[in-house]
Amino acid sequence: MRRIIITGAQGQLGKRLVAQWGQRMGMEVIGLDRQALDISSKKSIAEAFNHWNPDGVINAAAYTAVDLAEDEPELAFAVNATGAENLAEACARSGIDFIHVSTDYVFDGQATQPYQTDEQTNPLGVYGTSKLAGEKAVEAAFQNEKTQSKFWIFRVAWLYDAVGKNFLTTMLRLAQKGQPLRVVDDQWGSPTAAGPLATMLIDCIENPERLAAGIWHYGTAGPTHWCAFAQAIFEFRNLDIVVHPCSSSEYPTKATRPSYSYLDPNPLMQALGRNAIPWKEELKQCLLEQAETN
Ligand SMILES: NC(=O)c1ccc[n+]([C@@H]2O[C@H](COP(=O)([O-])OP(=O)(O)OC[C@H]3O[C@@H](n4cnc5c(N)ncnc54)[C@H](OP(=O)(O)O)[C@@H]3O)[C@@H](O)[C@H]2O)c1
Repeated sequence: MRRIIITGAQGQLGKRLVAQWGQRMGMEVIGLDRQALDISSKKSIAEAFNHWNPDGVINAAAYTAVDLAEDEPELAFAVNATGAENLAEACARSGIDFIHVSTDYVFDGQATQPYQTDEQTNPLGVYGTSKLAGEKAVEAAFQNEKTQSKFWIFRVAWLYDAVGKNFLTTMLRLAQKGQPLRVVDDQWGSPTAAGPLATMLIDCIENPERLAAGIWHYGTAGPTHWCAFAQAIFEFRNLDIVVHPCSSSEYPTKATRPSYSYLDPNPLMQALGRNAIPWKEELKQCLLEQAETN
């Protein structure tokens, strides 16, 4: 039986990966939180690998506080760059398949067409810069080692789930006040539910022969902007909340976000033999699942 380690198992994606794997047979899944496996420590990785002897690793651990990263660059790089490098080197050295998750924030948002994987990166902030450094380190680790194992980097955007702290749950919390909201309509991207992403990652590491190694863009059919995303949430939940569009200049944040960061999901979907799901359909499904479990 193949054994897979999930790092960052208490995070949004990590929790989903562990929960969804529970419904599958034929693989043993070990979800490790930061205490059990700190990816910024080579020693911690070596101890976990010696103990669990994995066949595959999915790295769902990351420093994701986009604005705070501007004040804590060392911490962001320790996790997103050095941590990714540590894991990739350990996997490549030991012949372990490795999945790493990255972000649309590696781009500067100046494009007017969906981003392809080979397009010029140019992150606008510390978070994106640290994630890009992580991508490069993962590629280098697998190029430097003569290894039988494979790596995949999946760039994703605007991750949400029905639980945890994300845009969807924030909008639903704010809606409880019944007041009109102002949400930016000049940042374009693709809302991406953690559940379907977790399913795709599980399929990939269960069937490593199906997808070529390297960088892939994962996401929904879109794009849209945050304001339309908020309106769709309230529409599907039958909540009578007025959402006023506003511009990013009216809602200043410490880190600058790309104004357009839609990642073209079609090359990956073609390789997997299916179509990208429209973002609204995925949102509806996520809210339906939430309603069923409550
Ligand atoms: N969230 C988004 O909108 C978004 C968008 C694009 C891409 N992504 C990428 O998607 C992936 C998953 O994101 P997510 O939303 O699931 O993030 P998340 O909810 O912030 O989870 C990240 C997890 O990593 C853990 N972690 C932090 N430092 C660690 C370390 N040194 N060793 C081990 N674990 C550590 C965190 O633990 P603590 O809570 O203890 O710090 C947390 O449980 C990340 O690679 C992220 O960059 C996310």
